Amino acid sequence: MNRTRCDRTPAWGQLQTAFESTGRAFDVRHAFAADPARFEAFSQSAPHVFADLSKNRIDVATEQLLLELAQQTGLAVHRDAMFAGEAINTTEQRAVMHWLLRTPPLDPAMPAQSVHRHMAETLHEVHTTLDAMLVFAEAMRADGRITDIVNIGIGGSDLGPQMAVLALDEFVLPGKRFHFVSNVDGHELNAVLRKVKPESTLFLVASKTFTTIETMTNAQSAKAWFEASGGTDIARHFAALTTNVAAARAFGISATFGFWDWVGGRYSVWSAIGLPLAIAIGARGFKEFLAGAHAMDEHFRNAPLGHNLPVRLGLLDVWYRNFHGFTSRSVAPYHSALKRYPAYLQQLEMESNGKRVDAGGTTLPYGTSPVVWGEPGTNGQHAYFQMLHQGSDVVPVEFVAVKTPKHDLPGHHRLLLANALAQAQALMLGKADAGGHKHFAGNRPSTFLLLDELGPASLGALIALQEHRVFVSGSVWGINSFDQWGVELGKVLAKDVAARLDSGDATGLDGSTAGLLARLRQP
Ligand code: F6P
Repeated sequence: MNRTRCDRTPAWGQLQTAFESTGRAFDVRHAFAADPARFEAFSQSAPHVFADLSKNRIDVATEQLLLELAQQTGLAVHRDAMFAGEAINTTEQRAVMHWLLRTPPLDPAMPAQSVHRHMAETLHEVHTTLDAMLVFAEAMRADGRITDIVNIGIGGSDLGPQMAVLALDEFVLPGKRFHFVSNVDGHELNAVLRKVKPESTLFLVASKTFTTIETMTNAQSAKAWFEASGGTDIARHFAALTTNVAAARAFGISATFGFWDWVGGRYSVWSAIGLPLAIAIGARGFKEFLAGAHAMDEHFRNAPLGHNLPVRLGLLDVWYRNFHGFTSRSVAPYHSALKRYPAYLQQLEMESNGKRVDAGGTTLPYGTSPVVWGEPGTNGQHAYFQMLHQGSDVVPVEFVAVKTPKHDLPGHHRLLLANALAQAQALMLGKADAGGHKHFAGNRPSTFLLLDELGPASLGALIALQEHRVFVSGSVWGINSFDQWGVELGKVLAKDVAARLDSGDATGLDGSTAGLLARLRQP
């Protein structure tokens, strides 16, 4: 596959020139004044999501150059290689096929379906596994004796299902409570165990590898608690969601739901890792979630690059990171149920694209993943929006709003939407004030994503949109967005330090760690 690094393309140099001549001083307010059709040019529909990009520091000529950059780096070829099941995760020699998890089964009457024929067997396996998981989910929903579902998992085995169960709270079966335990900090598990009873609890041990120390420690403690509290029938009260079925069995769990090494942890909510969500919203809801994501996959695969929303968002990320030098992006979901959406996006973007070498291992001369952070609106307005409006750094903001709410409390939604629009407006327009303290420079960029409603299908589409936009920027940067070696060193050192906490042995330690260790061991 021919991938050219972005800084070695002609378009990169042209973008640098464009930035120096018009980009640096670009003012969105002037752009609107000069072009009454700007909103139309920089907004578009994609499945379940309408996006307004018009308040960004970009013009048609720059977007055209960014599209040329995409072409010259081989973005479309790289995307097609992912959808062809090629091993594009080159450091682990793995295919990247989370999208296959949301591909409908092949219809023999329709030979021209988008999945490559050689993947037909894998797709069949995906659906057999999905069907078994959904049968289990329905059985748990129907089982009135199970009132509490405790998911034990961390990273992708926690953030996706937790974000989605919270986001779809309005669709959750009444009478079932969902708990998520991720941290090895025993306070978290303890707080859940205080609330549940062994006879009415289902523990889901979610771990792709089934080796992650936090999850294994929590699972051991949950099992010990279950047995010590009079629980019987581990087979009925524990299930494992993992690619390592053998390790789950060795742990003593017989009900297992598997997936495959071609599903990255942060891309796994569509797999067995989504079981808590399937129990929460039912088989039908889970299928809608998959269908929404599949519609976005098809958009990403087929829409021309200039009208392809993940492509436009990913390229804008490159423009901001590498030319404007913006180092972070704030996400502002104006829906309280999306409270874990920023945390979910942090792993998705920063674990995928937080890399300083290209796919060949060579150090990059340019920046990659921005810092992604945020809180639901309007709460963020009363905390850090001060900095977004008047701080010394420019931080592009990505709003998400929902047209129709699921409640009928008068006035609230109108105010919520008004705030979202007003914040985006204020960031862009600013306000002149001679006094300095009350001056808003304006021209602060933002993107506005609008869903008709927050439901399984639109959430699926929104998440798939984010996955693909991360693919786009990672692809242009020439990095491997699908490994995560950067988390390994800390894991290894933690094992060593844990042993030293017991023994007190500080031999060979740096002065700071040795000092802290000694202090922690003081009686
Ligand atoms: O430590 C990082 C990581 O490997 C993530 O990529 C992953 O989502 C998380 O740990 C949990 O891994 P597992 O599902 O194998 O327990």
